[in-house]
Amino acid sequence: MPNEKDFLAEFTARLQQSIAQGRFVKLTLSKNGGADQDFKNVYARLIELKGAEALSFTLRYATRDVVKNHPVAEGIAMVGLWLGQDFLNGDLFTLDEDVSIQYSKKRKPRLIVRPPSQQAPPPKTHDRPKQYLIEAAGNPYLPAMGITTASGKIAADGQRKFRQINKYIEIIDSLIQQQPLPPDAHIVDMGAGKGYLTFALYDHLRHHLGLQPAIVGIELRQPLVDFGNQLAQQIGYTGLSFLAQDIEQYRPERIDMLIALHACDIATDLAIAKGIQAGASIIVVAPCCHKQVRQQMSCPTEMQAILRHGILAERQAELITDGIRALLMEAHGYRAKVFEFISTEHTAKNLMIAGIKGPPDTQALAAVAAIKAEFGVEEHFLEGLLKCKM
Ligand SMILES: C[S@@+](CC[C@H](N)C(=O)[O-])C[C@H]1O[C@@H](n2cnc3c(N)ncnc32)[C@H](O)[C@@H]1O
Repeated sequence: MPNEKDFLAEFTARLQQSIAQGRFVKLTLSKNGGADQDFKNVYARLIELKGAEALSFTLRYATRDVVKNHPVAEGIAMVGLWLGQDFLNGDLFTLDEDVSIQYSKKRKPRLIVRPPSQQAPPPKTHDRPKQYLIEAAGNPYLPAMGITTASGKIAADGQRKFRQINKYIEIIDSLIQQQPLPPDAHIVDMGAGKGYLTFALYDHLRHHLGLQPAIVGIELRQPLVDFGNQLAQQIGYTGLSFLAQDIEQYRPERIDMLIALHACDIATDLAIAKGIQAGASIIVVAPCCHKQVRQQMSCPTEMQAILRHGILAERQAELITDGIRALLMEAHGYRAKVFEFISTEHTAKNLMIAGIKGPPDTQALAAVAAIKAEFGVEEHFLEGLLKCKM
């Protein structure tokens, strides 16, 4: 029976051998076992640096990533130092085998060797075109949703969704850096649909940021809710659930982060109002259609020559609807930002409004009143909701 040091030596030897033979794919260290609880994971890949192979490590901390490149021998030595100390799990993926070293609480290691799950090594270029937060391989919800194949490759028609998911997670990640969530964050995703983004959010918060979130997806359509609940259960996402309900009827006890992406027309307002009234510290919405203001909007005389074109009147309605949403959020104590979510190459519904808690803007309501007067808008739906207790 090999002794404990031999298991680690065996693991690092297989790592060294896979690199030497050109069979290495990637390496992950996880399950923090050290003093620095913010140090969540290490991901390693092989790159070419100034004509020589090197190991590039992404050190993932609670709120930031640090990338460090080391000559191969030095990198392997680092892995040997991290394992059993800072990290209790090591997973080596090669083209020939998957090798895991796992330490018990008493720091007793065991080595598990399985058939390979990876079919090709990633490119060795130093500056990869895009380093995604959500990786295509190893996330069980992605193949279940048809975004990747069973072997972890992005499906032919999954590219667009995959990029959208990653962009979304990047945005959320940066908001959380500005306004950290509590470890047991309560998050509601209103109008969750099939749950692509809800699953990705859970994965990121739980597996990259080390939170223990409780995420609920609210969705009218029962079959989508059943799909989401079954998948969450199947892949062990215990803090993620879906509820078949109208956003309007949902009475949350606590919301730390409110999300509503592409929820139709006034569903976005219902969601924002729920978030504000629950005192959510982060609100993120990507509005969809904008009928409510459009129906009330009249055209100031000097704009008639422009707004006689239906498409431009529609754009104007969008501008006013979303602009007032941002102002109302500011009036109710949020610092709001309006920006492009993903490029219009992917979808026309590409605007995002994000608010993080801050001091109320005392000028915002006057600005809303002036804009409404200018465009003959009687009441923005969100205003009415914020007047009454939901
Ligand atoms: C366009 S999909 C967006 C799905 C997902 N958020 C995304 O961005 O991929 C909008 C979803 O919101 C749901 N929805 C619309 N109004 C709703 C309401 N009042 N309550 C609950 N769900 C609603 C619809 O059934 C639909 O599945």
